[in-house]
Amino acid sequence: MTLLPGTASVRLSSRTPAEENTDSERTGREKTEKPLRVKMSVKEGSFRPSDLLAQFKQIGTGTRAHIRAAELLDNTVELIREMVYTHTMAQPKHTELLSRDDVEILLEATGCSAEIKRPACKGDCISERYRTITGHCNNRQNPLLGAANTPYARWLPPAYEDFHGTPRSWNPHHTYHNFTLPPVRVVSQEVLYTQNEKISLDLSLSHLLVEWGQWIDHDLSLTPQSHSTASFRTGADCTRTCSRDTPCFPIQIPLSDPRRNVQTCMPFFRSAPSCVDASVVCRHREQLNAITAFIDASMVYGSSDDLARSLRNLSSPLGLLKHNQLYSDQGLAYLPYPPRTHNHLDPCAPREDSNTGKNTTSMGNLTFCYLAGDSRANEHLGMIALHTLFLREHNRLARELHMLNPHWSPDTLYQEARKILGAVHQVLTWDHYLPHILGHRAYAELMPPYQGYDPEIDPSITNGFSTAAFRFAHVTVQPIVNRLGPGYQLDPKHPPLPLHHSLFASWRVVEEGGVDPVLRGLLLSPAKLQAPQQMMVEELTERLFQAHGGLPLDLGALNLQRGRDHGLPGYAAWREFCGLSVPANESDLIEILKNVGLVRKLLALYGTVWNIDVWVGAISEPAVSGGRVGPLLSCLIAKQFHALRDGDRFWWEREGVFSTTQRRSLRTVSLSRIICDNTHICLVPSDPFVRTLHPDELLPCTHTNVTHLNLSAWKEPDTDPVCGSIPRLKVGFSVLCDSAVLYQCPSGYLLHGSTHVTCDSNTRLWTPNPPTCQDIDECFSGPVCPPNLQCRNTPGSFICTESTTLSVTSIAAAVMTVVGGVAVMALIVFHQKSESQQSML
Ligand code: HEM
Repeated sequence: MTLLPGTASVRLSSRTPAEENTDSERTGREKTEKPLRVKMSVKEGSFRPSDLLAQFKQIGTGTRAHIRAAELLDNTVELIREMVYTHTMAQPKHTELLSRDDVEILLEATGCSAEIKRPACKGDCISERYRTITGHCNNRQNPLLGAANTPYARWLPPAYEDFHGTPRSWNPHHTYHNFTLPPVRVVSQEVLYTQNEKISLDLSLSHLLVEWGQWIDHDLSLTPQSHSTASFRTGADCTRTCSRDTPCFPIQIPLSDPRRNVQTCMPFFRSAPSCVDASVVCRHREQLNAITAFIDASMVYGSSDDLARSLRNLSSPLGLLKHNQLYSDQGLAYLPYPPRTHNHLDPCAPREDSNTGKNTTSMGNLTFCYLAGDSRANEHLGMIALHTLFLREHNRLARELHMLNPHWSPDTLYQEARKILGAVHQVLTWDHYLPHILGHRAYAELMPPYQGYDPEIDPSITNGFSTAAFRFAHVTVQPIVNRLGPGYQLDPKHPPLPLHHSLFASWRVVEEGGVDPVLRGLLLSPAKLQAPQQMMVEELTERLFQAHGGLPLDLGALNLQRGRDHGLPGYAAWREFCGLSVPANESDLIEILKNVGLVRKLLALYGTVWNIDVWVGAISEPAVSGGRVGPLLSCLIAKQFHALRDGDRFWWEREGVFSTTQRRSLRTVSLSRIICDNTHICLVPSDPFVRTLHPDELLPCTHTNVTHLNLSAWKEPDTDPVCGSIPRLKVGFSVLCDSAVLYQCPSGYLLHGSTHVTCDSNTRLWTPNPPTCQDIDECFSGPVCPPNLQCRNTPGSFICTESTTLSVTSIAAAVMTVVGGVAVMALIVFHQKSESQQSML
């Protein structure tokens, strides 16, 4: 039996004839539009909307390994279950399927054991001070809680069609409470679809508030989809078949849909399963969060050590993040491009204009997708603007910290700046963002003042939160991206764009005025108002990822299908979970939704209140007073953020994480100030989440209401009250950690002596003696230069020169030529040593 995902060695079927019928159906495109598709691929550089969705959710090697193991496990259990069924004609109970020992063997054989193994946590002072990049060890008793590549938590047991993992409506004829579920695209068309120009504007909130929600979402959850693009059993290409066969779970296009002329279904890949512990293996399918749960600015720094490292400028002594080497924004940094090892298609590269056939930019093929801590950075211009802003803010903080503490190592500067930026995100989200969403009164009720860290609280993101609740803001997204010039005026050169023209369009930032016009647009544009007849703009239901042409996706349908894919129970079950009234019939629902037309539409589609998908039910509720979500979303969002706060050992208000004066500083943090400090924008609102009606209301960046984050509280003392002056190194770094001074040498130097000293209160002396950093003679330790060159040691490094028999001038000339070039060659040859040495050259 071959168990590799994507192979089809075992063909078992428990599908109904109706399903088999639908399976034999092919997409309209496949049957009638083949020439059209091929033509489009060539023109569009082969990026179909489903390719862009896959790019959007791109993951690193660690997550890929996890998914591979989990898919092996999941497929194996499924095959065993089907074999048992074929032989016994009865569904085995999960407790009867496999013995505990068999499950353990399976976990080991698939690689899942390694994925769910408890990691070892370091206990030194520095590890206590900074979060790990992966989120491991935040909770010391259960170090996987909240870490990247762990399953979503569940507040309610899953509701799958077969109780294990088949999504509801997999079999479109399956009934629930005597009704079949409506195809999600029908719900999208009937309930969500709103013409772009038919929206109402939010009277009091800015579009930056909406963007902040997405920004924070990218700090909290990333659900990878299966890596295979073909059905595991039949090998059918998920983008070209309407068969439902994992991981293909295509979205049917209804007969009434104008798209039906060219498409009978929209590709949809199931989210990948997660490795789970032995107690869950035979029970049900869980999905995976590929990033850390905590608000820790992981979208800036990454959630894997490899990514975090690749984002750092390791040759800078200042602990900076890398920036773009090809372009700058009038002297300010852009996000870096990823290293380009070989030619591959890039969805952000210039593309042909479908009308003229010419490149839409003048930059040839020199723009690419940006590299950031989260793969969704390039999704649209607003996201790119926020990523750019916080890359710059990290580098600004690190430089300022270096001025205050020149003895800090690049690592300390990076970690301290990262720690501050994480705290900034916590303050901005809890104190500035959430009250606008939940309403100030509900916020005060649902988010009582912080009482301290509770290791019993699980901070993991829950499935219901990421798959439904926090997608609430999809219905507040504007269809137009406004870009405004200096003075917040429309710039005729860069007019407003329909949203779909801003998707995967990093080139526009470089070529169309940098990030300032996008940020000004976000600050001055109002959010879209959520209203019963105006749910989701057609830019999102009809043109998602149409940037490159092709038949676009529908975000509303994706949300609903994803909810079923993840086994989310229906709307009424969630109301019950939150202790809210549970609607049982039409009049109950009218009482809750306060809109007869909407209730009738929902019931016409779903037949019964019990079947309504939670996301559409939740966004249909009228908002609580002063907030932008109804009671159910208020409950779910507040519950998640409560757990993220109280279950985070590094929460910024927790005693010992920051000093009292540092906390006082952090409390004054202002997003407007961050915009002032890192762009050319010099007029900002005092609260950037509140709608500004006219540019006259804006404040100059010099205004006292645009508060500075005062970093003086981060300056380390130079003296100790008992032992006096803190011993520093002439060459080398030091940092105070608890009561010790820790030492580190730059690369090219070796530490001689103790790595740390402490103050002895009896003798009032530092003990033991501080160490020294001694230069390493690289030339002595072995051949570091190519054979025809001579090695010369320099402080912290070495150079390769031509032979000493040459004249002084020729040596000088040779040194000049080789230091730049050959030393780099040597660095490549002696890879291990290279990164540290580079910083000293
Ligand atoms: C231009 C605006 C936006 C676009 C184009 C967009 C697009 C998307 C797409 C394509 C997905 C994946 C859908 C799927 O396959 O299941 C997604 C997921 C999601 N979106 Fe948005 N979104 C936008 C704004 C927002 C905002 C404002 C928020 C929240 C405040 C948000 C929250 C989420 C969440 C929580 C997920 C699930 C993430 C995961 O678990 O992987 N989005 N969005």
